[in-house]
Order: sequence, then structure tokens, then C-alpha cells
Amino acid sequence: MMAQSEIRPAVVVAGASRGIGRAIAKVAAREKRPVVLVARSHDDLAASANEVREAGSEAFMLELDLFSPDASSRLADFLTANNLCCDVLVNSAGYGLRGAATTLPIPDQLGIIDLNIRALTDLSLHFLPEMVARGRGGVLNLGSIAGFMPGPNMALYYASKSFVRSFSEALHQELRRTGVTVTCVAPGPVSTDFLQRSGADRVPLFKVLPRLDADYVAERAWRGFKSGRRLVVPGLSAKLAAFAAAWLPSAIMLPLIGRLQRRSNDPCPCGSGIKFKHCCGAHPRRGG
Ligand SMILES: NC(=O)c1ccc[n+]([C@@H]2O[C@H](COP(=O)([O-])OP(=O)(O)OC[C@H]3O[C@@H](n4cnc5c(N)ncnc54)[C@H](OP(=O)(O)O)[C@@H]3O)[C@@H](O)[C@H]2O)c1
Repeated sequence: MMAQSEIRPAVVVAGASRGIGRAIAKVAAREKRPVVLVARSHDDLAASANEVREAGSEAFMLELDLFSPDASSRLADFLTANNLCCDVLVNSAGYGLRGAATTLPIPDQLGIIDLNIRALTDLSLHFLPEMVARGRGGVLNLGSIAGFMPGPNMALYYASKSFVRSFSEALHQELRRTGVTVTCVAPGPVSTDFLQRSGADRVPLFKVLPRLDADYVAERAWRGFKSGRRLVVPGLSAKLAAFAAAWLPSAIMLPLIGRLQRRSNDPCPCGSGIKFKHCCGAHPRRGG
């Protein structure tokens, strides 16, 4: 059997093939520790692995679909096979969808719960007990500024990020004095594929809010995690948005966000199949 001393602590990044996860993997690689890169796309993972190696760390690639119910045990088996343990877990895999909940495909919306909530929770619960037993390490979860408020026309995504913030902050408190940290990073819009894939890039809210660079978010997230922070909100505009969400009444916030995340060409949420602008949008008393 492998002696405990031969098992090396690794940084495991779920969602490491693109965007913020890939940027965090690069930052973590500066610490000269093995970095395990998890995602589905082989070529993007390979490019991410090259960046980690260039930054001076050993890179391991695991092509894994986190929708799989056995994803956490397959990751654990991969770590064991490579004489690694999960010292730091970064949960960056996630996606969102813009549009009225009554008009978006149900399986795609449930997928947000599966990935942003279930997979993140499964990985966290799988690896945290062994971190606590070792008295070191932690989890860095990608929340969002969306986790501070409900988000009409992106309802599932905002709700999933509320979960991430609540879950992470509660774990942070539970694990005080264990040597293990749980940090939630909650950025506003970041220049990655996410915005275009979710359809958020086409609505007024995401056109007016400044976009942060993924490398900047990664630096702030990693620094906050290393210093044991419960919550990291990178950038001034995200801080202002979090402040507004805490103080503005829902009667103002909800219609405002709903409007800023809607396009007049969207299908009407009433189910008529007609564009919003020709349906309830043309009769504000019905459409709100
Ligand atoms: N970009 C923003 O504006 C923004 C703002 C706030 C918060 N966030 C959050 O930050 C996180 C990262 O977002 P991003 O902007 O970096 O998005 P992104 O560029 O689209 O990257 C998403 C990552 O998740 C991976 N992924 C998606 N589905 C997966 C699956 N089923 N199994 C394994 N990996 C999967 C993707 O890899 P594969 O496709 O190769 O599997 C990719 O590496 C998300 O949780 C997002 O909600 C983003």
C-alpha cells in the first residue's frame, strides 16, 4: 500500500477547460503543486494543461461529464490512481440560460440544477471530510452576483447561484477552526464563453455592466481563498450590485432586473408563441 507521505496534495479544478476555471488553474499552478483539470472537452483541457505546465506545475487531465451521477467517485478513483489527494477543490463548472422559465426547455433548465447545484454539492461533500481529517485545504466555489437576488428571465441560474452562496457561507462557518476554508467568489459579468452560451450577452443588463477579465477574477478569487475569506466579490460594479440587492425593495429590483434581462423579440412568457412585444408586452397591464 502507498505510504501517506507519497500521496501528493493537488488542486482540483472542475470546469478547467475554459473561462474562469482555466484562469484559476493557471494561478494555482504558480504554487508548484499538481493541478488536476476536469471538464469534457479534450482539446480545451489539453490547452489548459499546457498553461499549467508553463506556469511550473504538473498537470493532470480528466475528461469527465459532471452530469454523471458517479462523477465524484470517478474523480476520487482518478486521484487515487495517480497518488494524489484533493487538497483544494475549485468548483467552476456551471452554465446559465436566459429567457422566461415557461419558454425555455425543461431539461436544459433542470441541467442548471444538476451542474451548478448537485455536482458542486456532491464534489464538495465528497472531498471536504478528508480535508477536515488532514486539517488543511478547502473549497473555492464559483457563485455570482446573481446569487444576491432573484433574476426574472434567468430564474434558474440566479436561484442556483443563491444556493451556491448560501451553501458555501454555511460551510465556511461550520468549518471554522478545522484548518479548512470554504470561499464563494461572486463576480459580475466576466468575458468568457458563458455570456454568449447563456444568451445573456444580448440583453441590456449585460451590455451596460462592465465585464471583468477572467484572469483578474481568478487572481482575486485565489487570493481571497488563500486568506480564508468567506466571500469574494471582485470589482466595484459587482460590489455596488450586491449592495443595491441588499437595500433596494423587491418591488423595485424584480421589475428592473426582469426588464433589463428581456428582449422585446423574446417569446412571450404567457405561452401564446407570439413575440413578447406583440403580445403581453403590447398590453402592459397584462404583461407587467
Ligand atoms: N462569465 C460570467 O459572466 C460569470 C459571472 C459570474 C459567475 N460565473 C460562474 O463562473 C463559473 C465559470 O463560468 P465561465 O464564465 O468560466 O464559463 P465557461 O467559459 O462557459 O466555462 C464553463 C466550464 O465548465 C465546464 N463544464 C460545463 N459543463 C460541464 C459538465 N457537464 N461536466 C464538466 N465540466 C463542465 C466547461 O467545460 P466543458 O464544456 O469542456 O465540459 C468549462 O470548462 C460558472 O459557474 C458561472 O456560473 C460566470
